[in-house]
Amino acid sequence: MPGYKLAIDGPAGSGKSTISSLIAKKLGWTHIDTGAMYRAVTLQALELGINLNEEAQYRFLETSTIHYDFDRIYINDRDVTEAIRSEAVTNNVSLVSSFPYVRKKLVELQKQAAQHGNIIMDGRDIGTVVIPNADLKIFLTANVEERAKRRYKEHIKKGKESQISKVIEDIVIRDQKDSTRKESPLRKADDAIVLDTTYLTIEEVVNKIIELTDKKEN
Ligand code: CDP
Repeated sequence: MPGYKLAIDGPAGSGKSTISSLIAKKLGWTHIDTGAMYRAVTLQALELGINLNEEAQYRFLETSTIHYDFDRIYINDRDVTEAIRSEAVTNNVSLVSSFPYVRKKLVELQKQAAQHGNIIMDGRDIGTVVIPNADLKIFLTANVEERAKRRYKEHIKKGKESQISKVIEDIVIRDQKDSTRKESPLRKADDAIVLDTTYLTIEEVVNKIIELTDKKEN
């Protein structure tokens, strides 16, 4: 079916980006990681040295370009795929993404990107705001200890220093901020299917979601 729209939402570290990227590769679809877009704006804001608490200062977005190319993300044509994973970005991204102006700008881009082809988009508000008419909506969850363990392993693999207690703390704080903000908070869409991945392998989750897309096509 041309133009299939798959929306994946869920809390920090639930595996959205990894799972979405693998599904996209398997099916030959386009993957858009919207978290990476909020991270890119946060990185740019930090580099510009603006006051992160002032919404008006994010006007720099009027002249910025953000684009994707095969899982790599660019701001003004600079590849920032690795830079957006820094601790400074992670610590500030929930604040940056809470501003209605920032969300409006990025949601506009995301809605445009969702219009063409088979798309798998992951984030916090994809099923509720960005693609409310998606063909399939998945809400990925996992208990906080498991999510922290996965993030911790990612850090170690990348050679980053990490402490499991600190990772748990970061995840809990970010979830709290993301689900209590006024503007499109993290929330399961009424018609989303919840998938608890605590005891599932990545492959099991990928296969389960592909199975669900097949069912929805028939
Ligand atoms: O670290 P993780 O991969 O779980 O998060 P992310 O998907 O990279 O998203 C980083 C942050 O961006 C989230 O904690 C949210 O504050 C924000 N975000 C959002 O507000 N709306 C989205 N659609 C995606 C991310």
